[in-house]
Amino acid sequence: MELAHAQEIFEQLYSGFSGYDIARNEKERTGLKDAGTTYGEVVPGAFIEVLREADPKPGEVFFDLGSGTGKATILAALAYPFSRVVGIELLPGLGDAARQVLARYDTEVRPRLTPEHQQQRIEFIDGNFLEQDLSSADVLFAHGTCYGPETMAQLTQKLTEMHPGSRVVMAGQTLQSTAFAFVKMKVMRTDWGTALAAVYQRR
Ligand SMILES: C[S@@+](CC[C@H](N)C(=O)[O-])C[C@H]1O[C@@H](n2cnc3c(N)ncnc32)[C@H](O)[C@@H]1O
Repeated sequence: MELAHAQEIFEQLYSGFSGYDIARNEKERTGLKDAGTTYGEVVPGAFIEVLREADPKPGEVFFDLGSGTGKATILAALAYPFSRVVGIELLPGLGDAARQVLARYDTEVRPRLTPEHQQQRIEFIDGNFLEQDLSSADVLFAHGTCYGPETMAQLTQKLTEMHPGSRVVMAGQTLQSTAFAFVKMKVMRTDWGTALAAVYQRR
């Protein structure tokens, strides 16, 4: 889908939602207040451009680790011909917000899209990404600026379950692993500033 059209749909779906307010309330409610849950979101044009560097192909599967209100997941579905997109989020209130947006997407947006986009599976899973099966991901995004060293070490190990040829787009962190080849680095604008986004390919 064209960037302008994806962006227009996206803005309508997310009008009136504040991921920051939901994240703040959820951190109070759950007590999960460490830096790893610091909130921040992608912005459409910059994210779609960065994701292009991972060369998404028709039928591939996309994962967003730490999906918040689902912005990156929904944009990936709108902009690219993935067959399945999956967001995984630790704070359930953010997952609920993403599922509310998805319900609107299913009734108001999906019926107007191409057959390929109508058939996409879009899922939002509540939970810790370190405990999920990531082996079906072809393209995986992690906006991990605030992940601490322990989370990054565990995530780096976890990502080795991805299959050869799959790609990781890591924003705000670098992936120090011989299991991945560095492909490219880009500056990505976000709603909180800019992050370096690095693309890697599983060897
Ligand atoms: C910077 S936000 C990114 C939101 C979304 N991916 C985006 O880019 O618009 C990072 C998110 O990761 C979530 N998170 C942090 N650690 C996590 C973990 N271990 N498992 C699942 N989600 C996690 C946080 O709660 C937060 O919502």
